[in-house]
Amino acid sequence: DDIVIQDNNKDQDDSMYLEEKSNKPGILSYIFSLKEEVGALAKALRLFEDKGINLTHIESRPSRINKHEYEFFISLDSACSKDLDEAIRSLREQISGQVHELTRNKQKDTVPWFPTHIQDLDRFANQILSYGSELDADHPGFKDPVYRARRKEFADIAYNYRHGQPIPRVEYTEEERATWSTVFRELKTLYPTHACHEHNRVFPLLEKYCGYHKDNIPQLEDVSKYLQSCTGFRIRPVAGLLSSRDFLAGLAFRVFHSTQYIRHNSKPMYTPEPDVCHELLGHVPLFADLSFAQFSQEIGLASLGAPDEYIEKLATVYWFTLEFGLCRQGNDLKAYGAGLLSSFGELKYSLTDTPKILPFEPEKTCLQKYPITEFQPVYFVADSFEDAKQKVRRFASIIPRPFFVRYNAYTQSIEVLDSTQQLQNLAESISGEMGILCSALQKME
Ligand SMILES: [Fe+2]
Repeated sequence: DDIVIQDNNKDQDDSMYLEEKSNKPGILSYIFSLKEEVGALAKALRLFEDKGINLTHIESRPSRINKHEYEFFISLDSACSKDLDEAIRSLREQISGQVHELTRNKQKDTVPWFPTHIQDLDRFANQILSYGSELDADHPGFKDPVYRARRKEFADIAYNYRHGQPIPRVEYTEEERATWSTVFRELKTLYPTHACHEHNRVFPLLEKYCGYHKDNIPQLEDVSKYLQSCTGFRIRPVAGLLSSRDFLAGLAFRVFHSTQYIRHNSKPMYTPEPDVCHELLGHVPLFADLSFAQFSQEIGLASLGAPDEYIEKLATVYWFTLEFGLCRQGNDLKAYGAGLLSSFGELKYSLTDTPKILPFEPEKTCLQKYPITEFQPVYFVADSFEDAKQKVRRFASIIPRPFFVRYNAYTQSIEVLDSTQQLQNLAESISGEMGILCSALQKME
C-alpha cells in the first residue's frame, strides 16, 4: 500500500522505479531493535500508548547484526507527535540501543521516474519540448517553405523511430551537401591545431569507415554502428528539443540523441540550434574514445532520479564539458566540446586570451551562468577525461537520492543499488573481474 509512482507518461506503466510514498503529511517511520525476550515489544509499544501516539504500521524481522535481537519498523501519525520526542527518548533509554529515524520517509519529494531499460527511451520520442519543424521568426530558414517541409520530414523520421530499428537513411540534396561541404572544409583546417588529440585520432577513422568527406554527409546509421563497435555508444534520431532530464538519461545508456537535418544554406557558418554538422563533427568523434564515453555516461547516470535542481546543475556541467569543454594536453589548451568543434569562429576564439579559463570542478562549474547565443565568456578546463569522470562521480554522490545506480551493459538496463542482493551481485561481478586481472598478471610475470 501507499506506493506512489511519479510518471511523466502515465499511460505506460511498465518497468518503473517505485518509491514508497514519503510525502504523506504526518507519517514518520523508525527502526529499532530489541533483545529477544517475552514482552519486550509490548513494553516498548506502551511508551507510545502512554503518550497517546497512534502507530499506523508495525513490521518485524530477525536482526542481521545480532542474532539474539529483532528489528522493528514502525510508522506513526505525527499529528499526535506533541510528545513524540519524549516517547523516542524513553525508548532509547529503555532499549539502550539505536533508534533510527528513516530520513528517507521525511523527504518532501518522491523519486522522479527514469528509464531503467534502453527501450524505455522510446517514450522520449513523444515528450519533446518543441517539434523540429517549428522554427522561430529569426531562424534563417523561417521564410523558406521548402526548408520547412524538409525539416518536417526529418522530424517525422525521429518521431516514429523506435529502439532497435535501423536509423532511416536520408538522401541529402545537392544544396544540403554544399552547406556540409563548406562547414566541413573550414573546420577541418582548424582541427590539427585546436582540437584535442582524441578528436584528431578518431577523425581519420571516421573518414575511412563512416563516409566523412567534404562531399558526403555521413548517415547516422553508419556512424551509430561504428560507435557501437568502439565504445558501445549509439545514436538515436531526435525530432525536437528534449528536456534536460530526458536528454541526460540517454547518456546513462550510452545513447546520444542526434538531429539529422542540416542548417539553412543561407548561413552555412551559423546555426541557432544543433544540426547534423554539430552532431557529426562536434559530438561523434569523441564518443569513439573510451575515456570520453565513460565520462559522458557518468553524467547520465548521475541524472537518473535526481531532483530537478540537480538536473539543472548536471545540465550546466554537460554544457561546460560535452558542449564547451577545454582540456589541458601537455602545455597546451585544446577543445573537446562539440559546440566548439562545430563552430569555426568560437573554436578559434576559445583558445585566445580573451575568455576566462577556470579549472573544471563540478561543484563550482554547475553554478556558472552562461549565454546560449554568443561566444562563451568562461570555459572550464579538464585535466583529462578520466579525471573529469572521477569528479563527476564524486559530485553524483552528493545528489540527494536514496540509492546509487549502475549500468548493466549485458541487459542494457539500469540496476538500482538499494538492496543487499544488488550489492552482492555487484560484488560477485567485481570478484570475477579481479580473478581475470590476477590471472592475467600472473601470466605476464
Ligand atoms: Fe550538442
